[in-house]
Amino acid sequence: MCLAGPAAGERYIRVDPRWLAGPAGWQALLADEGGRALSGVGDLLEPASDGASSASVFLDVWVLSVSGVRADQADVSVLDEHERQRAAKFVRDVDRHSYLSSHIALRQVLSRHLDTPPGQVEFIREACPNCGASHGRPAVPGHPVHFSLSHGGDLALVAVAGAPVGVDVEAVPKEQVAAELSTRLHPDEQCEIAAAEHPRLAFARVWTRKEAYLKGIGTGLSRSLSADYLGGTGLAALPNGWSVLDVPVPAGYAGAVALCGAAPDLRVLELPPAVVELRR
Ligand SMILES: CC(C)(COP(=O)(O)OP(=O)(O)OC[C@H]1O[C@@H](n2cnc3c(N)ncnc32)[C@H](O)[C@@H]1OP(=O)(O)O)[C@@H](O)C(=O)NCCC(=O)NCCS
Repeated sequence: MCLAGPAAGERYIRVDPRWLAGPAGWQALLADEGGRALSGVGDLLEPASDGASSASVFLDVWVLSVSGVRADQADVSVLDEHERQRAAKFVRDVDRHSYLSSHIALRQVLSRHLDTPPGQVEFIREACPNCGASHGRPAVPGHPVHFSLSHGGDLALVAVAGAPVGVDVEAVPKEQVAAELSTRLHPDEQCEIAAAEHPRLAFARVWTRKEAYLKGIGTGLSRSLSADYLGGTGLAALPNGWSVLDVPVPAGYAGAVALCGAAPDLRVLELPPAVVELRR
């Protein structure tokens, strides 16, 4: 997978696949982009401690290429009954694989934060801020870690943070789809997309920022897409104290993450597909 380089405020750490050596999992060799050795996953899970970020909450986004996960090796044993039933309903194998891989990835990442085996992580759904029904943000009961999951095309993104968070990834859509869906966005966003050199890409950026935010606040797309202005790029401070940042993802995709509060350094980490597979 080839991710774009880190922008200002981002730290991009490539995780050495050797990290998975052994049943204990993430005890492995890790190195950041400067070749600095990290002693173990604990280093990754701590808030970035350099400079300005020390006072803020942490924000990590793990990026998985689901095509790198061998379908017959995906460790579905960690999934619960609800996840298995949902997976069984997909018509296309490729969608089932994306769902399975991303949910295993989510469990693996959370298991390190919770110090719980991935198969024992329990999920609930918070109340929807719109209607009060239990289809709001996914959460782990009794634990303050915040997370968000998105899967689209070949990618799955898992955001983990010290504050409410939403993440989204989308493949850049065809021109007609982008043009149609743009009409649902905030008027200023529509203008920016129309004036952009590459409107499809501009649309995908705005859309992922919007969806990340709406997942962060828990409404999903039940809140009007035209109600909030999130802009098309960079760091935006939102009216009610949220921040939204672009996530560097491979060409052909757009990714964004929204966090409740001031934006800390964003760490984008590549999740080795082996983490999602059965351990030998
Ligand atoms: C949630 C939603 C934004 C997902 O968008 P998507 O592009 O299809 O899918 P993504 O891969 O980006 O995200 C899916 C993940 O978001 C998370 N999610 C689901 N609902 C969520 C919510 N309300 N808030 C935050 N996250 C949510 C789940 O982890 C889900 O993973 P899963 O479907 O594999 O279990 C979209 O399906 C939606 O808005 N649904 C709301 C439907 C609605 O209007 N309900 C009525 C409310 S009154």
